[in-house]
Amino acid sequence: MLNVRDDFPVLKRLINDKPIVYLDSACMSLKPRQVVEAMNEYYIQYPACGGRSIHRLGEEASHAYEASREKFARFLNAAEPEECIWTRNATESLNIVAASVKLPKDAKLVTTTLEHHSGSLPFVERAKRDNLEIEIVEAKPDGTFDLEDWKNAIDNRTKLVSVVHSSNVTGTVAPLKEIVEIAHDKGALVMADDAQYAPHHPLDVQDFDVDFSAISVHKMCGPSGMGVLYGKLELLKEMDMFLVGGDTVADVRYEKGKIVPEYLPPPEKFEAGLQNYAGAIGAGAAAEYLQSLGMREIEKHERALLAQAIKELQGMDEVTIFGGDNIDIKTGLVAFLVSSVETAHDVATFLNESRNVMVRSGAHCVHPFHYQHGILPSKGTNRASFYLYNNQEDVDVFIQAMRELIEASS
Ligand SMILES: Cc1ncc(COP(=O)(O)O)c(C=O)c1O
Repeated sequence: MLNVRDDFPVLKRLINDKPIVYLDSACMSLKPRQVVEAMNEYYIQYPACGGRSIHRLGEEASHAYEASREKFARFLNAAEPEECIWTRNATESLNIVAASVKLPKDAKLVTTTLEHHSGSLPFVERAKRDNLEIEIVEAKPDGTFDLEDWKNAIDNRTKLVSVVHSSNVTGTVAPLKEIVEIAHDKGALVMADDAQYAPHHPLDVQDFDVDFSAISVHKMCGPSGMGVLYGKLELLKEMDMFLVGGDTVADVRYEKGKIVPEYLPPPEKFEAGLQNYAGAIGAGAAAEYLQSLGMREIEKHERALLAQAIKELQGMDEVTIFGGDNIDIKTGLVAFLVSSVETAHDVATFLNESRNVMVRSGAHCVHPFHYQHGILPSKGTNRASFYLYNNQEDVDVFIQAMRELIEASS
């Protein structure tokens, strides 16, 4: 098992004289000292603008910003650093793709009931904008898909597919390679939502052959307000602009009463305005940190904790696991319902107040999947998510708090 808790200063905190049990990493991960220090170095040593300033501090900022992109490209095994665009979050990455890929008038989009709203709604809006059809593939109750459904949904008109690689509700890992193959056979592009996959499993974008991948840096030990859009370079070059303005242009001419821009290639094409330099530097440090531990090791560590948690939860009559229990195809999270408690928020409040156990409650920005399986978002589900800094003791305290909750509510 990994032993990295000393890297995470917040884990030393006591609240009401008790340690914290942080089981909400699927929302936001904790940050290791290595990431915070890399960002502090920027703010203290060279807090200048990258890209445009030619003075020494500007040069240092530009260098660190681009070096970080290279680190991130290595993390994803992207063919070129330019294929990694810094964004504010996975949501922005997904919006860029959905809004900016050029599509013919009769194009069809395909997505699923398991998508995070950040993966489905940009498709809904694009479809509205251009009057396109969207076909929805339904996930099964355990979060798995039937490949036949994908084969039926993707046809010659399908041009863009959005699929959540690992679900933030069920933790289920989708058969991405097979879906990509089905899509590519029909000439469709695939946008993978890797917000939950990238922090927990080895992600080789060339091996998966995805066309686009959206990554949430703040879920992978990086700073908040940072994301990455990976895209195959040729595709990024062809796409329409998303945000335009400073730093996206090689030149802007004034010709006969007209303003005529000449845009830069990726990545600058998609990085308009002054950037979150500290955030990008922290993102590179996070990628390096995770790689130094080994993504397979991280996956193994989390699955061991998850297996233990699922086994204990299954022994409680009042608890129903939502989203299957096949550890081999899961990211380290489990969603569940407690029949003796009215809402998921009540469960989360009890766990927090009794033993500082921090879990998520609600519909996790995936309302369609909850409706599909008869759970009103207002009741919601709870989600406990594990990461590299959690340990056996965290699982024990969580389970103990769950037992106390059930005793108090039955
Ligand atoms: C599967 C999935 N996709 C997308 C997102 C959105 O990520 P971000 O907050 O980086 O925009 C999340 C966040 O919870 C997620 O879990």
